Amino acid sequence: MSKKPFFILAPMDDVTDVVFRRLVAECAPPDIFFTEFANVDGLQSAGRHAVLKKLKMHESEKTTVAQIWGKTPDNYYKTAKELVEMGFAGIDINMGCPDKTIVKNGCCSAFILDENRNLASQVIDEVLRAVDGKVPVSVKTRLGFNQIDYSWHAMLLAKKLNMLTIHARTRKQMSKVPADWSLLEPIVALRDKLSPSTLIVGNGDVQTRAQGELLAKKHGLDGVMIGRGIFTDPFVFAKDSPWPNYTKQQKLELLRHHVQLFADTWQQGERNFETLKKFAKVYVNGFDGASDMRATIMTCKTSAELLAHLNTVLPYANSPL
Ligand SMILES: Cc1cc2nc3c(=O)[nH]c(=O)nc-3n(C[C@H](O)[C@H](O)[C@H](O)COP(=O)(O)O)c2cc1C
Repeated sequence: MSKKPFFILAPMDDVTDVVFRRLVAECAPPDIFFTEFANVDGLQSAGRHAVLKKLKMHESEKTTVAQIWGKTPDNYYKTAKELVEMGFAGIDINMGCPDKTIVKNGCCSAFILDENRNLASQVIDEVLRAVDGKVPVSVKTRLGFNQIDYSWHAMLLAKKLNMLTIHARTRKQMSKVPADWSLLEPIVALRDKLSPSTLIVGNGDVQTRAQGELLAKKHGLDGVMIGRGIFTDPFVFAKDSPWPNYTKQQKLELLRHHVQLFADTWQQGERNFETLKKFAKVYVNGFDGASDMRATIMTCKTSAELLAHLNTVLPYANSPL
């Protein structure tokens, strides 16, 4: 594989909402964005509104893939039809989340287990049937459940998915050991044999675009998905990130912009303000007084309060005082 890989912003619950995706798009867009995971069973129930906010899109978004999870094939079918109507660029099925409660319920990474593979197969079939070739369908998964199990990837590839993303750890490993991208190579070989048109994407521990390019080249992958790397560099998808040279003033201005986008987007309080505060670490970092400033931000209760605080600080952001 000599072609440059494409890059994806990983789905992250309470992180990759419409607001953060816009911010990343303005800084340095990846080729593809993923939403947070949205539950199909919740979406097809009375609790629908709570799930819909995870699927909110901005009119400028053309390359956003909706990620879904859940248990019931029929709800996958109904949801996939709706997502095509909503204008998503693709649909991804989460078959990798390791969360205990979710796994107990037989969803996400639990689909990897032998006893759940029939259900996993039905789920994929229902999404493919609903989509009917109108948008690409993909799966995001892991290397296995308790141990590496390539029979799982062979089953997925037999579905002729458009894309398969593998987080290079097993479910049992959670995020406790380093991701091992060399373990993705047998999946690339399986792809070549079973479904040559399926794009294979690697995921896990990538901190820079250059590192992602090297890993993709070394292991023969088509794409690279980056999640937590965005927390240490909002420009992580840039060829030459300006972030290492960002001044305190520039960092705080970007935070203020993020907070303003949040306030403009979620005017009725649809989104918990606490989810926004977690981003303070991203911007308020690497300058004198950052830790005290983060502590103050943590006491804010609304975005209006946080904006007011930033407005008092910002004119003096470059001051040595
Ligand atoms: C806060 C957070 C939320 C996440 N939410 C999701 C999710 O909704 N769907 C999903 O497939 N993976 C989710 N993940 C996993 C990431 O997409 C990714 O697979 C993982 O973080 C490893 O990649 P990284 O090392 O580049 O972060 C989440 C990870 C984090 C840190």
